[in-house]
Amino acid sequence: MNTKVVKIECPQKPRDEELLEGARLLREGGLVAFPTETVYGLGANALDEEAARKIYEAKGRPSDNPLIAHVSSMEEVYPLVSRVSDPAKKLMAAFWPGPMTLIFPKSDLVPYGTTGGLDTVAVRMPSDPVANRLIALAGVPVAAPSANTSGRPSPTTAQHVLQDMDGKIEMIIDGGAVGIGVESTIVDVSVDVPTVLRPGAITMEMLKAVLGEVQIDPAILGPMSADVRPKAPGMKYKHYAPKADLTLVEPADGDMESADSLERMTRKVRQLAEEKLAEGFRVGIICTDESRGQYSNGLVRSIGSRKKRETVAHNLYGLLREFDDLKADYIFSESFPQDHLGQAIMNRLSKAAGYHIVKV
Ligand code: TXA
Ligand code: MG
Repeated sequence: MNTKVVKIECPQKPRDEELLEGARLLREGGLVAFPTETVYGLGANALDEEAARKIYEAKGRPSDNPLIAHVSSMEEVYPLVSRVSDPAKKLMAAFWPGPMTLIFPKSDLVPYGTTGGLDTVAVRMPSDPVANRLIALAGVPVAAPSANTSGRPSPTTAQHVLQDMDGKIEMIIDGGAVGIGVESTIVDVSVDVPTVLRPGAITMEMLKAVLGEVQIDPAILGPMSADVRPKAPGMKYKHYAPKADLTLVEPADGDMESADSLERMTRKVRQLAEEKLAEGFRVGIICTDESRGQYSNGLVRSIGSRKKRETVAHNLYGLLREFDDLKADYIFSESFPQDHLGQAIMNRLSKAAGYHIVKV
């Protein structure tokens, strides 16, 4: 299959002519990758089981891992779901369109092929103008996982999508680099107390401000023991994985502010990297603008300023892909505070590291 790349001239204001062919392909059962404010999505008609099956095939994704149905307006939500609770209504009003996915009890309209056999459905209304207009023009809800091969870091540019999907899908809509860089916050509103299944740019702090009471799925917070079953099936797979062996270094006291603990962290990253370099391996280092000067050997990349969580999130997946391209054998990374967007950053980094975290 020849994958057509359509470049959007002005992604903040896409023209309908640029999106009509992609919308038609979606409606007719094809696969079209498109930008959202979080990461690039791999879209297909969410009501067409055969189209959903093609998504699993293109990604190499296990078919019990359900897809998110993307909509462009509030009216499009109701036919897909059988109940909208009061907390759900509050969250929709506060954060849609935007980087938040809600889990509802599904209606009969949504095929089990889209929900991985579950009686619930994940729905999200993206704010990205290209995504929003494309979905509206398609006239159907669009099932879209992140547009990466299963197990690789999510794509944040059209080039990343092309690396993984060239020849496997009909079209890639290139709207430039995404804004946020980590996937949407998932909140299960099909249960009594809304529960966060995946942290993202709509943070715990923001959810609490709207809802008061929010729970967090224990599977988010650490490595899963055999008796904990994550509520988002996707969270059980080794996700977001770079090809190299990634190790995180974290101050044991959790202090991410004091010069002393930051110094301990950088010293350990440097020491671990030097050990592997001495053994002849290709070693990547993820540092920050503040610590860049502390490292002289290895493939050293700053993820941005430690003070700017948005920048760190934005650069994270691109950096992991860059280390893949550079054929790094090992990556050592500094850690980040766990509050606000930091929770999503550390969730993705810890999973990418297979929870291999060295405390100093
Ligand atoms: O930001 C995002 O959400 C991106 C963009 C493209 O919108 N999409 C995305 O999709 O990250 P994906 O498929 O990579 O991740 C969807 C996650 C998976 O962990 C899946 O298990 C979970 O959502 N999920 C989907 N439907 C669910 C359901 N009914 N119940 C629980 N978890 C569900
Ligand atoms: Mg994904």
